[in-house]
Amino acid sequence: MTEVAIMPTRALLLALLLIASAGLAACGGAEPEAAAPAAATSPDNPGGLTDAQLEHGIGPVSAMTLEAEIDAALAAQGEAVFNMKCAACHKMDQRYVGPPLGDVLTRRSPAYVMNMMLNPEEMLQKHPAARELLAQYMTPMPNQTLTHDEARAILEFLRTQQPAATPAP
Ligand code: HEC
Repeated sequence: MTEVAIMPTRALLLALLLIASAGLAACGGAEPEAAAPAAATSPDNPGGLTDAQLEHGIGPVSAMTLEAEIDAALAAQGEAVFNMKCAACHKMDQRYVGPPLGDVLTRRSPAYVMNMMLNPEEMLQKHPAARELLAQYMTPMPNQTLTHDEARAILEFLRTQQPAATPAP
């Protein structure tokens, strides 16, 4: 009598096993979906950077808002660091080892300039605008191991060098 009770149980188990393995095989056999590219790329943006990265660069600094008034004391500190660590390659009004910086803030956002100072290696590797300059200048800007505060002071100094904004009408 016991055999009779067990037999259907075994049959049921076997059937379940067959169904399960068939299911597994179906899963295993299915081709994985082709991986979609991480982001859309284009000739202008081969790395597929986000809009924020394109505008503000890649590195520790994200979009920043500057005080309307320039902080003269901070700018003076920045000028001292600039003369020590940047002037060997950058002039304000003409091409040198690197591009002129007298109008850089009309071309780049403050955060972009900060990231170029603090993270030049990655910027040169990944940012299309930085790569374009590298192609022109043929010298990779070295990391000057600035602190965040030094970079911020240089940014303030660079603000004093920008062409005067056209007065509001
Ligand atoms: C060894 C030379 C060298 C030194 C030192 C140097 N740079 Fe550069 N810099 C370059 C070059 C060359 C480029 C153009 C991109 C490239 O080829 O790396 C550049 C690019 C830049 C840019 C981007 C300009 C733009 O139009 O996008 C900024 C901003 C900048 N440098 C700021 C600085 C600051 C601030 C310092 C000092 C802390 C500094 N650089 C030190 C050579 C230098």
